[in-house]
Amino acid sequence: MPAVMEEKSMASAGDMQPIIIAIAKGRIQEEVVPILQKIGIFPDEAFFDDGERQLQFSCKDSNISIIRVRSFDVPTFVAFGAAQIGIAGSDVLMEFDYSDLYTPLDLNIGHCRLSVAELEDAEGADDMARVSHIRVATKYPNITSRHFASKGIQAECIKLSGAMELAPKLKLAPCIVDLVSSGRTLTANGLKEVEVIAKVSSKLIVNRAAFKTRNLEISEIINNFREAVQNA
Ligand code: PRP
Repeated sequence: MPAVMEEKSMASAGDMQPIIIAIAKGRIQEEVVPILQKIGIFPDEAFFDDGERQLQFSCKDSNISIIRVRSFDVPTFVAFGAAQIGIAGSDVLMEFDYSDLYTPLDLNIGHCRLSVAELEDAEGADDMARVSHIRVATKYPNITSRHFASKGIQAECIKLSGAMELAPKLKLAPCIVDLVSSGRTLTANGLKEVEVIAKVSSKLIVNRAAFKTRNLEISEIINNFREAVQNA
């Protein structure tokens, strides 16, 4: 086959590939479902079943496929082009800061905050400001180090993947940096919020290279999300 024809047939085969959207399981998934329905993206029933082991789901009458991954992995799947689009919390985007990601839209869901917390009977932010070194349990070592460095404090981060709230009580670290929504998890574990580092919401993210090569399809999806969010 001549080189030009070969290129064309490869391009059209590529065009048939579904656009893959990576969605974080858990809270973001719950809040994103009404938006998906509004814009005509209807994933297979299995997507709604928490016990389901399947991780990729086709969508009725559309060339879109959804993958359900951990919130911290959404930007990685999209940055490396395994998924073209993702829905990720701004906390995770701040932590990784991938240059291959374009963030066209705040979806106005998944609102919470990334905060510093410590034991209820600890001295609070004023006391923290007097130290030059602090140990912090967190899944956000980059944000945590930057935050404390801006105050002239060296943070020694103990990286955990969950259940951070146990760390102060068990003397793993005197404070934690984690997401706070209702504040119930902090209270239930004898902790208080001492400082908000950032307000968090979920964003639509796009792989920059895919945005160029599949611009029409991806732009249409972004515009549909934008309209749904504006009319929410
Ligand atoms: C998050 C976060 C806190 C909790 C805060 O965990 O890590 O533990 O929510 O929410 P609250 O202020 O409403 O109590 P999540 O339940 O998302 O699970 P995770 O530990 O897997 O991140």
